[in-house]
Amino acid sequence: MLRTHTCGELRLDNVGQEVTLCGWVDMYRDFGGVLFVDLRDRYGKTQVVFAPEGGKELVDAACALRSEFVVLVRGKVAPRPEGTVNPKLDTGAVEVRAEHLEILNKALTPPFQPSAKELPGEDLRLKHRYIDLRRPEMQRTVLLRHRMVKMMRDYFDALGFVEVETPMLGRSTPEGARDYLVPSRVQPGTFYALPQSPQLYKQILMVAGYDRYVQVARCFRDEDLRADRQPEFTQMDVEMSFINAEDIIGIIDGLVARLAKDVLGLEIKLPLPRMSYDEAMNRFGHDAPDLRFGMELIDVSDLAAKAEFKVFRGAVEAGGRVRGINAKGAADRYSRKGIDELTAYIVENFGAKGLVFFKVESDGKLASPSAKNFAPELLAEIGRRMEAAPGDLLLLVADKFETTCKALYGLRKRLGAELKLYDPATMNFSWIVEFPMFAPDTEEGGWTAMHHPFTAPRPQDRKLLETDPQACRAQAYDLVINGYEAGGGTIRIHDQELQQQVFGLLGIDAAKARERFGFLLDALQYGAPPHGGIALGVDRLVMLFAGLDSIRDVIAFPKTQRATDLMTGAPGQVDDKQLRELGIKLPGK
Ligand code: AMO
Repeated sequence: MLRTHTCGELRLDNVGQEVTLCGWVDMYRDFGGVLFVDLRDRYGKTQVVFAPEGGKELVDAACALRSEFVVLVRGKVAPRPEGTVNPKLDTGAVEVRAEHLEILNKALTPPFQPSAKELPGEDLRLKHRYIDLRRPEMQRTVLLRHRMVKMMRDYFDALGFVEVETPMLGRSTPEGARDYLVPSRVQPGTFYALPQSPQLYKQILMVAGYDRYVQVARCFRDEDLRADRQPEFTQMDVEMSFINAEDIIGIIDGLVARLAKDVLGLEIKLPLPRMSYDEAMNRFGHDAPDLRFGMELIDVSDLAAKAEFKVFRGAVEAGGRVRGINAKGAADRYSRKGIDELTAYIVENFGAKGLVFFKVESDGKLASPSAKNFAPELLAEIGRRMEAAPGDLLLLVADKFETTCKALYGLRKRLGAELKLYDPATMNFSWIVEFPMFAPDTEEGGWTAMHHPFTAPRPQDRKLLETDPQACRAQAYDLVINGYEAGGGTIRIHDQELQQQVFGLLGIDAAKARERFGFLLDALQYGAPPHGGIALGVDRLVMLFAGLDSIRDVIAFPKTQRATDLMTGAPGQVDDKQLRELGIKLPGK
């Protein structure tokens, strides 16, 4: 090996040793003939001193060093002179007095310095990802990801899980997003779909008798991207046979506790708390609520129905709801303009028609331009229901239930951050359970699967499939951390008849089911054990454990919001020859 030590290794114990370090030139300072160079690698930084004692030639060579040159330095470890010790650096008590320098490679002036305090724009970071990945913060995250994935693999291995790889080139799996398609050259006009998840393969593995499966699985979904969504992402994918939902939840509880302890030094109490989907929607307006703070949604529909105020009464008469949140003590935080901004926020983003607000005055009265439309006693009652105290800001939305959920969820999330209602360093883990089997399909009518079409209903709800599908609850569970869905899974249907029935409700007729999932339906008839599983979003887990708010920061080579890789330029054009071979003709060509 070229080096004897890494740049993060030397301590006072090494003083007097002759060492060789390799790394990148981080900072260099010239103090009139004496050069100080910080040499950096992924382990840390070490100060190297080029002084006249080393000879003029050496100092001259060092003068040619520039940021990000890759160098090899040989020299002696010495204690730093008194007053120059850097307690912030692990190697800060020592320096290397250089005796020999080799420039292993020069570097162009980097578009930004890996150690710069100010981060450059994300586009620049993504374009020059090799520079960005040199930043100590990125290196810490990449390492954390490695450690977390290893911990998870070890955890499952110790429990007898077997990692099995499943194909990337397969058939479409219905996880609800668009597929990425790959054209077949050998069979022109046909396409593979990249897996949205290994869902069907892992079920087939259960039929095949591998009763504890796990895989660090790459998944591909062509959907609208956000800070917590990438077109390709990684799941810790799990499936088990002869189990129930409790068993899966128990195993993941254990995993979460282990990660929390090993990564964050946090002891968490098990079992993790659970909340039903209905309760989550009623109290927080969302199925992945952030439970680090209160400010729950309060329903005042019954009171609103009695109001003169048309916005309120009309909404209730139309079958909607009037619900709100109480931003405690925030009346002074939001001026009229501030409230206009909140209004615009929920109108533009969540389809709300407006926002009604009341500021609670020192005598407890609710003040607002809308107040005149309410009998004082009714207003007082709304105040009591919302636990209004002087200085509070009450924010209400009158709309369809779903719209009040979306708007108030968005508002709560925004105000929670703006009003600093929680310590960002805290972690909150919970399960949301008892999801509906189906959601109304707003585009095509009928039903869509709330999770995916292979999800089993609760045994006691099976009859509802015929009478009231909307009321039917699934054996489904989501792991929620700090308001993010970190994982989700279900107990699967293992009998072919029930699977057909659910396909029927989802508008997948027998012929279509056979064409798309014939292999699964067949497998279900060849001795399918009862089974179920879950997939954890690895990127989201690492993001949350690292205290970051974008999964782009925990993926070595992520894509932008427009699904572009700014470094390689993917997606790119391909040669006409390739297209011809694939039998593809582009419009206008
Ligand atoms: P689901 O679709 O809920 O379930 O996905 C499981 C978890 O994967 C993560 N996730 C994503 N992470 C980043 N970018 C994305 N685009 C993205 N989409 C999903 C989330 C989510 O909770 N086959 C089922 C699992 C099962 O039933 O066992 C599935 O894929 O953290």
